[in-house]
Amino acid sequence: MTLYFASVLPGLEYVLSDEINNKVTDSEIIEINRGKVFFTTAKTFTCLSSLRSADNLFQVIDQFQIGPHKKHLSHVSERISQLDLDFIDHNDLFWVNASRKGKQTYSRFEAAKKVMEGINNHYPDWNIGTSQNHQVEFRLDIEHQHVIFSLRLTDATFRFRGQTRRFSRASLLPTVAHAMVHLSDPKSTDVFVDPCCGSGTILSERATYSAKRIVGGDVSGDVTKVAKSNIDDTKAQINVWDARELPLSNGCVDKIVTNLPFGRQISPDEDLKLFNHHIMNEICRVLKPTGRAVILSESVNQLLGEAKRLGLLCLESYSLSLKGLNPTLFVFEKQDEL
Ligand SMILES: C[S@@+](CC[C@H](N)C(=O)[O-])C[C@H]1O[C@@H](n2cnc3c(N)ncnc32)[C@H](O)[C@@H]1O
Repeated sequence: MTLYFASVLPGLEYVLSDEINNKVTDSEIIEINRGKVFFTTAKTFTCLSSLRSADNLFQVIDQFQIGPHKKHLSHVSERISQLDLDFIDHNDLFWVNASRKGKQTYSRFEAAKKVMEGINNHYPDWNIGTSQNHQVEFRLDIEHQHVIFSLRLTDATFRFRGQTRRFSRASLLPTVAHAMVHLSDPKSTDVFVDPCCGSGTILSERATYSAKRIVGGDVSGDVTKVAKSNIDDTKAQINVWDARELPLSNGCVDKIVTNLPFGRQISPDEDLKLFNHHIMNEICRVLKPTGRAVILSESVNQLLGEAKRLGLLCLESYSLSLKGLNPTLFVFEKQDEL
């Protein structure tokens, strides 16, 4: 079993843990810290890369304790120089990023330098790159006296889903979109709708699981063009529509996952409060009894009030910190009619 950790948007740690438990069958969650989930598994990287709520994946190489003063940094280079790093391709340039939490008298840059020294003591022919130019990246996380030394397994293309995906001004991070899809409990029988789909991030993440039908729409013709360029039309139908009057019949949708327009990001053509009122009515109308709506919104109190009025039970909620805003992610379930 190897120890890994996945970094994740703070607030979504438990959603990612659940995704790990579901997808990495032999895994054991070891620890959950703010923005990080530690787990063990014997599975390969191919299996781990199915964890789409994770921002990045790291393999833990070593853990040890360190004192708070500069003189203690020599322990870092000494310890690192004893590690067996033969499993890493030494023809590549390497780099070390360090983070530090606590009252140390050294900087994170000084700590990173000591790690590079330690690596070069053991492997003198390994070449140090720069922060912009390297193929192998190590990470040193110092939290008070505890140190974790790890190897980064993923680059930015992992969380942004390659280099060709197009985003709009209000696009959601694909990792957050995936966490929302995960919370909807995807089933192959689902009729799935995102009524305010923007560039289609949620639809694309939903399309990584099978479904009966995946449908999305947006009031803006420009962003639906972006959505269409991001997702194959055999996987999802994308429409220009007004989400306050969806062209869908009553009770025909199993799952709705959406992030409503909020904050400074984008304003609908009417008062946000009135917009939320109308769209919640519409979401409730098209949902099947026991259907789920996973909604990201900044209008926390209003959404809870609208849900109560409509008989949507709030199963879970997660407070997030996203692009300087503090939206809440709600999981609602439509109550079965008696
Ligand atoms: C926060 S953004 C959604 C971003 C999307 N999840 C993505 O990743 O690109 C909200 C979207 O709601 C759309 N919108 C605003 N008013 C709408 C309406 N009446 N009907 C449908 N969509 C609407 C906006 O055009 C915007 O694209």
